[in-house]
Amino acid sequence: MSFPTHRPRRLRRSEAIRCLVRETRPSTAGLVYPMFVCPGKGVRVDVSSMPGIAQQSVDKLVEEAREAADLGIPAVILFGLPEHKDEKGSEGYIASGVVQRAVEAIRKARPELLVVTDVCLCEYTDHGHCGVIKNEEVLNDPTVELLAEMALSHARAGAQIVAPSDMMDGRVAAIRKKLDVAGFADVAILSYAAKYCSGFYGPFREAAQSAPQFGDRRSYQMDPANAREALKEVALDLEEGADMIMVKPALPYLDIIHRVREAFDVPVAAYNVSGEYAMVKAAAQNGWIDEKRVVLEIFTSIQRAGASIVLTYHAKDLARWLKAC
Ligand code: PBG
Repeated sequence: MSFPTHRPRRLRRSEAIRCLVRETRPSTAGLVYPMFVCPGKGVRVDVSSMPGIAQQSVDKLVEEAREAADLGIPAVILFGLPEHKDEKGSEGYIASGVVQRAVEAIRKARPELLVVTDVCLCEYTDHGHCGVIKNEEVLNDPTVELLAEMALSHARAGAQIVAPSDMMDGRVAAIRKKLDVAGFADVAILSYAAKYCSGFYGPFREAAQSAPQFGDRRSYQMDPANAREALKEVALDLEEGADMIMVKPALPYLDIIHRVREAFDVPVAAYNVSGEYAMVKAAAQNGWIDEKRVVLEIFTSIQRAGASIVLTYHAKDLARWLKAC
């Protein structure tokens, strides 16, 4: 039974019929907009490899957060650039830190906007690694202690969701315990569970000034060749108390998003990272691709693979375009 009985083109004849049978319906509901907060006042410094994205002081950041909320974006995720970096990333877990102040300011300005914080040391350490270093080695357990402190300081500032991105073992359990003991049982954990050691983070490291000063992140982030290991990482984080899990980057790992979606009944997030954004922007600026069409296609494909939450630097454009449809 095939042609002429079956004519799949019947269901593609008009936008009305295509819309009726559409399997994936992209919406703004799962968008998370990443933002970079720096010290000072009135500061907005463009990130050259990420057109449209900037490092901003709290006052400017709040203005943009309001704009995101007005566009219908439900959540932002914050990354901090401290005043001073040191060996232990001390400014990452003080109450007066940039992220902590930004969380407070955004919560006050737009209480309905969800504020997610990235929990990691690499933006705050002078060596640029995601943990404490001894003899050029990233130590797991002492790092986990500091990450838990950081998550708690974010919760105290008002973050509703904390997102550990360091890839240390056992950090979700440590964060959960720290939050619960301090009375923040309602703060959710979105763990970067399957975070790969990727070349696509390049532009982010310019934005967050977080490039490692020696070596690379292969001793803690995942090997791009491994898929089964991602399922193990996700299972462990869920066991430790993660509420939502993330796969990162998105496009080179759509198969991982799909496998995780099939295997676990929890909300799955995907991070469409800085390098993925930069490639689209560069090609669009050269007139080589139709930016709107490509961005919508990418967003749809990430959702089709199984992610209901998408962290993307395209969030504001997507919100505008999706509204117009
Ligand atoms: C911190 C962190 C990174 C990203 C998110 N959190 C960088 C890294 O691991 O080097 C990357 C996000 C992006 O590229 O957009 N560990």
